[in-house]
Amino acid sequence: MLERLAWGILGAGNIARTFVQAVKKSKTGKMVAIGSRTRSSADRFGDEYQVPVRHGSYQALLDDPDIGAVYIATPHPMHAQWAIKAAKAGKHILCEKPLGVNHAEAMAIIEAAREHDVFLMEAFMYRCHPQTARLIELIQGGAIGEVRLIEASFAYNSSFDPDSRIFENDLAGGGILDVGCYPASMARLIAGVADGRPFADPVEFYAIGHVGKTGVDEYTTAICKFPGEILAQLVTGISMNCDNVVRIYGNKGHLVIPEPWVPQRDGGICKILLSRDGRPAEEIQIEAEPLYVYEIDLVARSLADRQAKFPAMSWADTLSNMRLLDQWREAIGQLYDQEKIDAPRQQQPLVGRPLSVRSDHKMIYGRIEGLDKPISRLVLGVDNQKQMPQMSVMADDYFSRGGNAFDTAYIYSGNWKTTPGCERLLGQWVKSRGVRQQVAIIEKGAHTPHCNPDDLTKQLLISLDRLGMDYVDVYMLHRDNPQVPVGEFIDVLNEHHKAGRIRLFGGSNWTIDRIDAANAYARGKGLRGMNVLSNNFSLARMIDPVWAGCLSASDPQSRAWLEKTRTPLLAWSSQAQGFFTDRSSPDKIQDTNFVRTWYSQDNFTRKERAVELARKLSVDPTAVALAYLLHQPFPVFPLIGPRTLDETRSSMAALEVQLTERQVRWLNLETD
Ligand SMILES: NC(=O)c1ccc[n+]([C@@H]2O[C@H](COP(=O)([O-])OP(=O)(O)OC[C@H]3O[C@@H](n4cnc5c(N)ncnc54)[C@H](OP(=O)(O)O)[C@@H]3O)[C@@H](O)[C@H]2O)c1
Repeated sequence: MLERLAWGILGAGNIARTFVQAVKKSKTGKMVAIGSRTRSSADRFGDEYQVPVRHGSYQALLDDPDIGAVYIATPHPMHAQWAIKAAKAGKHILCEKPLGVNHAEAMAIIEAAREHDVFLMEAFMYRCHPQTARLIELIQGGAIGEVRLIEASFAYNSSFDPDSRIFENDLAGGGILDVGCYPASMARLIAGVADGRPFADPVEFYAIGHVGKTGVDEYTTAICKFPGEILAQLVTGISMNCDNVVRIYGNKGHLVIPEPWVPQRDGGICKILLSRDGRPAEEIQIEAEPLYVYEIDLVARSLADRQAKFPAMSWADTLSNMRLLDQWREAIGQLYDQEKIDAPRQQQPLVGRPLSVRSDHKMIYGRIEGLDKPISRLVLGVDNQKQMPQMSVMADDYFSRGGNAFDTAYIYSGNWKTTPGCERLLGQWVKSRGVRQQVAIIEKGAHTPHCNPDDLTKQLLISLDRLGMDYVDVYMLHRDNPQVPVGEFIDVLNEHHKAGRIRLFGGSNWTIDRIDAANAYARGKGLRGMNVLSNNFSLARMIDPVWAGCLSASDPQSRAWLEKTRTPLLAWSSQAQGFFTDRSSPDKIQDTNFVRTWYSQDNFTRKERAVELARKLSVDPTAVALAYLLHQPFPVFPLIGPRTLDETRSSMAALEVQLTERQVRWLNLETD
């Protein structure tokens, strides 16, 4: 008989009461300790539920060597901090839903579980229940034919109390996070199963809702489309009475699940109603134990795998759900105060310590003449950052991995109505972390049609204001304008250099000839020239420009020039927009821009070789493709634009890939 898993609970609230009783009924667990913010509350809870050990702080519970797994039962905003600390303390984790307040927090928690090698699951108890397993069997067995539409609701009516967890903005109240996460997760599950996968992400999403006076969503509905033309309607709320039922319609019948979320809490007979071809509904019965016992036993049995198995929540499933919840809140204009750019919560890493570089980081550095600090060879592009939580989590992680160079641009700042813009987000991140001296900011401006000296000045001043900085380390013209004599650009760039606004400058999407002309002019006048270039460079050759006016430096002339001048190349689309992932294959042709830019026989052969080498080296092909850049006979600083921590981690793997000169040539189809 296996030793029982020793549980400790963080937070002596409502759901903790349900949980403690379920642990006692479980086959695998034992209730060892309760951790509360106060000793008195821990004692009260301990006395009421006969929990032997009581801790007057969450940290004390994490420090308790007798605890094997923790159940995080605090309000949502405390999940990230305590789950990350629990992972560091080496405790296995069952964390209440939603795993974090947003997708970014969920990523950080999962990353911590991965790094510290502990089990982690988001506590969607209905996913561990036999009723859900039976429902999946019915869909897979074709009971209702092809799934067409899923209707899922979870709402309740709570009387307005601005200080309650449900309505308080600071406690991330509102329906979407509290119970809307259930319909979202169910629709993704069923749409996925209908398509032969564990879950699906919507391809279209629309929502409307009512955000109340505390700034939390009080009731809302969303409609979405999943792959396979499956539609879903999701309903949630905290001030609305609802039937809280799931209905799934197919072309041959439909299913009704009257108790989808809390099926027979204390055990009993659960029912699914199946109607086929217009005949009266058939009642399918499932005999079940108390609901939460399944979840508790599943955790104990899954510890060795670190993640739960389908249909319980895997890490990928949680991330997909969190992404949908972010999308839902964004669609109805709901953003918590704590997610805003200047919120105290955003001014420090989630665990609240000063930011530091990990001692085991693998970053490598290079020098760029004119800068007083070494620059990390992988540069983080921030153009896809829309809100501060994502910026914070991505930049904290990159910095902790030794990264210190950030690429941004005037035109990346985007739509000001819904996002502060990535320059402001980056500037706030740098300021709040106090790392201006350690990092290098690479800024671009004067994009077409504003590619002229006057607009360059205007945009640079605006960018500095957005960044909240008085200088950037590297400034680049985002495009060239051959109508403007090159000397005019050099003159204005030198003025900004002299004024201390830019340390050094260069061109992005500039031809070698124009750079040479610019530098000849500069030499003639005793001025500074351009000493960085930012054109595309990747293992896959850009067949057709990604965007109008874009240039690649993969051609032999540019490469020879880079080798001769040793000009640092800040290579954009360094991973060829995902060409080395599953995104590309000769039969995937829906994305016509992607196909136009990268598809060629030679590029697919390069990809085959990257895949072959990656298999031998046990890394992703993207890491091999990126390592190819780091092994050029001239200094390349690839710009990477990860959207997730997974993507950052797989890019960072390139730093450890050692390629021989022969392999570099072989990857690029060069003959010896
Ligand atoms: N799976 C389910 O069936 C289910 C059902 C309900 C709720 N939940 C989830 O469980 C979590 C907790 O919900 P709940 O209804 O149990 O909440 P609750 O009754 O308000 O309890 C939360 C507990 O968290 C602790 N806490 C820490 N910081 C707090 C703060 N700033 N304000 C208030 N409490 C704080 C408190 O415990 P101490 O004072 O002891 O520290 C409090 O008793 C939520 O994430 C929710 O989504 C899940």
